Amino acid sequence: MTKGAPVKLSMMVATARNGVIGNGADIPWHAEGEQLLFKAMTFNQWILVGRKTFESMGVLPNRKYAVVSRSGSVVEQENVLVFVSIETALQRLEQITDHAIVSGGGQLYHSLISRVETLHLSIVDVEAEGDILFPDIPDSFRLVFEQAFTSNLNYRYQIWQRT
Ligand SMILES: NC(=O)c1ccc[n+]([C@@H]2O[C@H](COP(=O)([O-])OP(=O)(O)OC[C@H]3O[C@@H](n4cnc5c(N)ncnc54)[C@H](OP(=O)(O)O)[C@@H]3O)[C@@H](O)[C@H]2O)c1
Repeated sequence: MTKGAPVKLSMMVATARNGVIGNGADIPWHAEGEQLLFKAMTFNQWILVGRKTFESMGVLPNRKYAVVSRSGSVVEQENVLVFVSIETALQRLEQITDHAIVSGGGQLYHSLISRVETLHLSIVDVEAEGDILFPDIPDSFRLVFEQAFTSNLNYRYQIWQRT
């Protein structure tokens, strides 16, 4: 780990075919097995999330959270740091880690998609109703890996790399 070097940002998300990622506070589908990808990828990692996602996800063991909130409604606790802006979160993360995973929700994905190096994307084979959408993947990303999974709802796991 190089303290003070820019933190490498990855992003992880599951979307429906139509780009929906959430409905209110919830994810409007359940694809069995898909969340294991999230659990594996985030084990012992720093996770950067917005306050709404943090409140709906709760604190998973063996993860460290950087939560952004302007309202100040999140209380810091063990393994949970709270920041009033994305910039202050990134500045602090640079001092303590070399990698963080942006894990939602919609506001954080829109704010940071152009700054991440790697995007882990699951596309669930469902047309979902919801009010939270994932942004378009910028042209600067290219698909470097894809694997199809069969489940109650099939999904494709893709890795996109910013060139
Ligand atoms: N499908 C998936 O993979 C996935 C993953 C994660 C989440 N989700 C879904 O995404 C939805 C939540 O997304 P959302 O867009 O409504 O909310 P969000 O991005 O999780 O959180 C938004 C909140 O974060 C804080 N915030 C955002 N930008 C900030 C900034 N620049 N500086 C400081 N604070 C900032 C604000 O908190 P305050 O209001 O406290 O100021 C804001 O209200 C839910 O439906 C959830 O289920 C889906």
